[in-house]
Amino acid sequence: MRAPSAFVLLGLAALAGCGGEGAGSASGSGGAGGSTSEAPPLPWAAEKVPAAREPADNPTTQPKVDLGRLLFYDPILSSDRAVACATCHSEEWGMSDGLPLSIGTLGVGPTGPGRTGPNLTRRNSLTLWNVANRSPLFWDGRAATLEDQVLAPLKEPKELGRDPDEVAKDLGAIPGYVTLFQAAFPKDSPAVTVTNMQRALAAFERSLISDRAPYDHYVAGDSGALSDDAVKGMFLFAEAGCAGCHAPPLFESMRFFDRGVAPVPGVADDGRGEVTHERLDQGAFRVPTLRNVRESGPYFHTGAVASLEDAVKQEAARSPKPLSDDDITAIVTFLDKGLIDPSRSPDRPAQVPSGLPVPLDGFRIPR
Ligand code: HEC
Ligand code: HEC
Repeated sequence: MRAPSAFVLLGLAALAGCGGEGAGSASGSGGAGGSTSEAPPLPWAAEKVPAAREPADNPTTQPKVDLGRLLFYDPILSSDRAVACATCHSEEWGMSDGLPLSIGTLGVGPTGPGRTGPNLTRRNSLTLWNVANRSPLFWDGRAATLEDQVLAPLKEPKELGRDPDEVAKDLGAIPGYVTLFQAAFPKDSPAVTVTNMQRALAAFERSLISDRAPYDHYVAGDSGALSDDAVKGMFLFAEAGCAGCHAPPLFESMRFFDRGVAPVPGVADDGRGEVTHERLDQGAFRVPTLRNVRESGPYFHTGAVASLEDAVKQEAARSPKPLSDDDITAIVTFLDKGLIDPSRSPDRPAQVPSGLPVPLDGFRIPR
């Protein structure tokens, strides 16, 4: 289908000997598809998305995932009984919410641009795609595990604003939930506890895997999975140093940098510095994943940049390698077309055991 362009060959030559950036293990490619054809050119070692990490005390099981999904979409978790995790982490919006800053309790309108309300979060909502392999969590890395993380939005008055023990009491009074908790935690009596609610939500979040993007098919040996432009963009992404931070195969890293993103006016935010109190961490934020990034705008911890193209331009301006407009377009093509795989988006339940209405999603023009 597609002959390797001179550019790609040149790119390969230029990159030979500069391995070690991003992907560590040189596990070889072609393992997935059983393809015998020559591996398509990559600017880094071929590596598949790793299996979801899970803690020893909370192995993932289907009953936990099923329960966690219902909890994730159930507004019983919020003080106004109208906000759920899904309000700010929606499958329609790249497991984020399409807003610069999220709007929690007492908000008006469905998830997406147009939702208004008095309670704004301080930062842009993070995508939950591939969150199983992410730690520490949050833009500033202040939570270690998914289980721990659950309590943060739950207690935060602007997000869900509930006392976890009260939530467990409410859940324990709903027969549908009691049955589901018993199925998920058969050895526990009572099964409905705050800890088990945390575990079920975490298990559900670990099921949000995105590893079937065109890029992944390409890595597995299907050289036609990426267009010439996307391949060009991928090599530029490596040459410009992007992959050093947004490291394949997850296109992120658990490190923190100050990328010169202008703060939200009137909002003090020291990022990682608030957690470590180190001077070097002041104004530094975690390197976000670029998988499914086209769905999860607006961008940066402030959500101030609406389009992926503008976000890439802003980042490209910081690269030591000068990038032309065409180069930037190619990088955008790689991210936009190459890293997209929402195939395992969760199904929004039509109803949840509390009987409360499941929060709505705004209409999104399909792409
Ligand atoms: C009102 C909006 C809102 C609600 C409700 C909400 N979140 Fe979030 N979530 C956010 C924002 C904003 C961030 C980023 C905050 C930060 O980094 O300081 C975030 C971050 C996260 C992260 C960290 C992801 C990462 O890559 O580090 C996880 C996990 C998460 N939320 C899960 C949940 C779960 C589970 C619930 C329900 C119990 C929930 N959220 C409810 C807005 C919300
Ligand atoms: C030194 C590490 C580093 C390098 C190199 C780097 N980035 Fe980033 N990138 C980050 C960090 C950190 C953020 C988040 C910054 C913030 O919000 O304050 C980010 C944010 C982004 C975002 C927004 C994602 C989102 O979900 O909000 C995009 C898109 C992006 N980078 C693309 C690129 C591209 C393209 C390159 C190469 C030209 C690049 N980055 C180079 C660290 C890096």
